[in-house]
Amino acid sequence: MSSQEFEIPNNKNKAKTRMEELRKEIRYHNKKYFVENQPEISDYEYDQLLRELEVLEEAYPEFITEDSPTQRVGSEEIEEFKTVEHKGTMLSLNKAFNYGELKKFDERVKKGWHNKTIEYVVEPKIDGLGVALYYKTKSLERAATRGDGKRGEDITPNVKTIKAVPLRLSDKSKIRTAEFRGEIFMPRKAFDEMNEKRIEQGREAFANPRNATAGTMRTKDPKTVAKRPLDIFIYTLSYVEDGNFETHTQTLEEMKRAGLKVNKYRVFSGIEDVITYLDEYKEKKEQMDYEIDGMVIKVNDLKAHEALGHTTHHPRWAIAYKYPPTRKTTKIKSIEIMVGRTGKLTPVAILNSIELSGTTVGRASLHNEKEIQRKDIRVGDTALIEKAGEIIPQVVKVIKDKRDGSETKFEMPHKCPICGSAAKKIGSDVIRRCVNAQCPAQVKQRIEHWGDRNAMDIDGLGTKLVNKLVEKGLANTIADLYELKLENLKTIERMGKKSSMNLLDSIAESKQKGLSRVVFGLGIPYVGDHIARVLAEHFNNIENLMSASQSELEQIDEIGPQIAESVVSFFQEQKNKELIDRLQEHNVKMSTKQEEHEQFLEGKKFVFTGALDNYTRDEASEQIRKYGGRATSTVSSETDFVVVGKKPGSKLTKAQKEGIAILDEETFSKMLKSQKIPDK
Ligand code: IVH
Repeated sequence: MSSQEFEIPNNKNKAKTRMEELRKEIRYHNKKYFVENQPEISDYEYDQLLRELEVLEEAYPEFITEDSPTQRVGSEEIEEFKTVEHKGTMLSLNKAFNYGELKKFDERVKKGWHNKTIEYVVEPKIDGLGVALYYKTKSLERAATRGDGKRGEDITPNVKTIKAVPLRLSDKSKIRTAEFRGEIFMPRKAFDEMNEKRIEQGREAFANPRNATAGTMRTKDPKTVAKRPLDIFIYTLSYVEDGNFETHTQTLEEMKRAGLKVNKYRVFSGIEDVITYLDEYKEKKEQMDYEIDGMVIKVNDLKAHEALGHTTHHPRWAIAYKYPPTRKTTKIKSIEIMVGRTGKLTPVAILNSIELSGTTVGRASLHNEKEIQRKDIRVGDTALIEKAGEIIPQVVKVIKDKRDGSETKFEMPHKCPICGSAAKKIGSDVIRRCVNAQCPAQVKQRIEHWGDRNAMDIDGLGTKLVNKLVEKGLANTIADLYELKLENLKTIERMGKKSSMNLLDSIAESKQKGLSRVVFGLGIPYVGDHIARVLAEHFNNIENLMSASQSELEQIDEIGPQIAESVVSFFQEQKNKELIDRLQEHNVKMSTKQEEHEQFLEGKKFVFTGALDNYTRDEASEQIRKYGGRATSTVSSETDFVVVGKKPGSKLTKAQKEGIAILDEETFSKMLKSQKIPDK
């Protein structure tokens, strides 16, 4: 469509006014379509409005606002997800697995509040990715994941692409500056369609909507995120500067007024009515457009929230009710053996496919041979399969009454089904492992694990490509990845020049990831990404870690004898020592990655007084430290700068008396951005 179709006013003011009008109108229709699901205009009319705004913004870029509806998808990739502090801990919820536990919860609430009937709000518990949205003077300023509850990852550019997230809060609401919490999720139907497309394109399917959501939000390219069918429900007003609220439902209604997408909720007097409702809802939940993993029951009175408080993990005024897991029976067609990264043999039941809470289930892990014996699981048996929340499907038991004599007992092989080497139990272990470290199944998974996003984060190194690399003999160890050339990749189907170059770039970039990712990537048994970080922080480089003794390791917090033994024996292995040597020859960094920042504040001392708008004290001090400066608490002749926020204290007067340079927040921010010390 050409821009001629729209009138571009010559008069700046007119253009500005029209742009404001358009933004308002588009926002209104966004809300109708994406939040309320009640569109009032056709897609065509909506596109016209958006197009007109785009044309005007092109002509008058000075009037583009950050929260303009055209600013959803940034063109820049996210370099790194920064950690940010939440406005208060993001707690999780205590769980009740039956009605008895709910009644006990009700008793505790009554005891801690008043002994009368309590009003409860019941909401679906969405199974997605928790997120905190911070709006400042109406505009979406920041979106962060839950992380460890105190600090999460800044995923603002990705969240901005979700159309149900308003970039600006509606003027109908009094809320201007606030933090909201909610859950990003992918509706079931959209998830299925997306997966089908992925399979057609030869890409790996996501396991479930929740994984798809979490994976998408960790993507560094907002353009990709924008293509994924994500949605959101907001369920809490966690911080607000404007307005007082007495009940949770008042906050929900006000959030709706602000243009946020709030799920349906119900209010009940007393726990008995809540339970009746939960019972009715049990049937409904399978037919919902999205997956829920229970219901949340919250005390409505906000004064009660304060009075009841919270433990370190969860509030005492809310609880999540988990429906009993869905179970179904089906036939075990056969039992297959999977060989893991560390050679572990895992028996897997291959089932006649069944639908279980929204997904198709065709396999269930049987864990190990002891488990098979304990449950007396036989090929041909009818088994009761259960899927509980995020856990992979399990065989609860087999129905022995249904046996007709044709069932066969299963024997664990004593040979690896992939390479034919011996599969042995070591010591008292119940697990059999393939003893051949060169077993293709192990090699493939080790290489794939090295490219994992929590390890070396190598884009494009998925299962299919790794399989081909190993089958063609192009990679037998992770070190071989660093010797791959463009011409090697040419021999692989589906690898075009562009994807090959991207892969090689990503492999080259991985060299700089640093020690903790290397340690995790090596795939040492019992060393997950958290333990890898603990080890990296303690030892700082690979040589120190390799020479650590069992007892030295055990002295570290969080490292028990099992991990310590595993680490020691991993590095005793000659093959592993050679592997490390080869990685070092390829300049793979094996020391702790220290962020390098221009130390332009070296030796400078700062004092803060008053409240800053954009930084907490900790954040501001952290910034100073990052660039080599120091934040101190008292003004003295050694102080170089005093940073002044709102309502400053006596430190300001003292600084003025001493003639110390004073910075307002804006100058402070500019200094950090430009990395230049302002003129005094
Ligand atoms: S309220 C302090 N309400 O479940 C209580 N949480 O296990 C904050 N969730 O971290 C949570 N739907 O990510 C609440 N209607 C709902 C929810 C919900 C999903 C998630 C949320 C939270 C987790 C707690």
